[in-house]
Amino acid sequence: MHDSKTIQFASQQHQTTYGEHPTVIAYAPGRIEILGNHTDYNAGTTLSTAINHGTAFLLSPADQPGVRVLAADLQQSASFDPATDERLSDQHQWANYVKGVFHLLRPHGIEVDRVNCTFAGSIPMGAGLSSSAALEVATAYALIQHADTSLDPIEIAKVAQAAEQQFAGCNCGLLDQFSSIFGVPSGLIYSDFRTLTTDNVALPAEARFIMINPHIKHALAESPYNERRESCEKAAAQLNQHLDHSITTLRDVTWEQFTQHRHLIDPEAAQRAEHVIAEITRVGQAIEHLQRQDLSAFGQLLFDSHETSRTAFENSCPELDTVVEAAQQAGALGARLSGGGWGGSVVVLAREAEAETLTESILETCRQKGFQPTAEITIPSAGAHVITH
Ligand code: GLA
Repeated sequence: MHDSKTIQFASQQHQTTYGEHPTVIAYAPGRIEILGNHTDYNAGTTLSTAINHGTAFLLSPADQPGVRVLAADLQQSASFDPATDERLSDQHQWANYVKGVFHLLRPHGIEVDRVNCTFAGSIPMGAGLSSSAALEVATAYALIQHADTSLDPIEIAKVAQAAEQQFAGCNCGLLDQFSSIFGVPSGLIYSDFRTLTTDNVALPAEARFIMINPHIKHALAESPYNERRESCEKAAAQLNQHLDHSITTLRDVTWEQFTQHRHLIDPEAAQRAEHVIAEITRVGQAIEHLQRQDLSAFGQLLFDSHETSRTAFENSCPELDTVVEAAQQAGALGARLSGGGWGGSVVVLAREAEAETLTESILETCRQKGFQPTAEITIPSAGAHVITH
C-alpha cells in the first residue's frame, strides 16, 4: 500500500517546478519500532512494522550536470554534485540524506547525475517514525530504477544507513532502513542484525498500534544517541574480559551472564547494557506470546521495555513517561517509547474495539497535564517499492 495523496502532490510539484513529468516514482514507508530498542547496532533483534505513511521520491532526466532536488513539503530546493562527499549547509540539512544516497550508491556502479528530483512525504518530522530512513530508501529505489539495474535490499539498507551516518552524523543501526524495505501489510517484521535476515510475524487481527506524538523536538544527531552506542560497545568490550566465551557485541551476552558479571564492569556502561540485553530477551519472548496470540503478555513486554528505557538507558523524557502512564491507566495492553528516544512518539498497543476510547482517554490525561499530543492508529504496511518508470 502506498500513500497516493503524497505521490499525487509530489508529481504535481515536480511538473510545476521542472515542466516535465517524472520518469521514476519510488515510495518508502516510515516505521514503528515495536520492541528491541537500541539493539540493532548491538547485533540484536527487533520487532517493527512499516506504516501507512511514507515518502515519495520522483525524478526525471535533465540536460545540465548535477542534481537538483525540491523538498516539496518545505518548498526548498538544493543542488549538488553527486561525485563529491561534502555535506550541504545546515540550511539544507534535509538534502544531505539525498546527497548521501546519490554519493554512496556510486561504489555499487550506480552513478546517477543530470537529474531533477522532487520528494514529499506524509511522515511527520521528529515523530520518531523514521522520516529520514524513508527518504533515504525512497531515493535509493528511485536511483536504482533510473539506472535500470538492481541491488540486493540488504545492500540498499546499508547504503541508506551509511548516508545517515556519514552525511547526517547519526551513528545509527539498520532498524529503520530494514523496516522501510521489508514491511509487510498487516504484520510485524522480525529482524536479526547479526545474520542480517528478516522474517514476518503474524499479528492477531484485533491488535492496533496507536502512535501518540507529544511533539517534542527530536534530532538524533544532536541527542546522546552516539554516546549510548559507545557505552554499549564499552560494556561488550569489558564483559569480554570476564566471560569465558568471546563477546563482540551485547548480543553475545545472555541475561543470566549479564546479571552475574555486571558488577565487574563500568557501572554506567552496565546500566545501558541492562536495557539492551533485556530488550533482546524480550523480543524472543514476544514472538512466543504472538505465536500463542497472547496480546496481553505481549503488551506487558512493551511496558517493561519503557521501564528500562526510563531507568537504565535513560532515553525517555517526562512527556513520553506521562503518555505511557496515561496509557497504562486507561487500560492499554502495552505502551513504550518507540525509536531512538529523547522525544519522538509512544506506541500504544490496544485491541481494536478499545482503541478509540483509549486514545481519547490518553489525550485527555495529557491535556490535563498541560501538553497537546496528537494520535493516530497506524496500519502495518508494505515496504518500499517503485511505482512507475
Ligand atoms: C533510531 C536509529 C535506529 C535504532 C533506534 C533505536 O531509530 O536510527 O538505528 O537504533 O533509534 O532502537
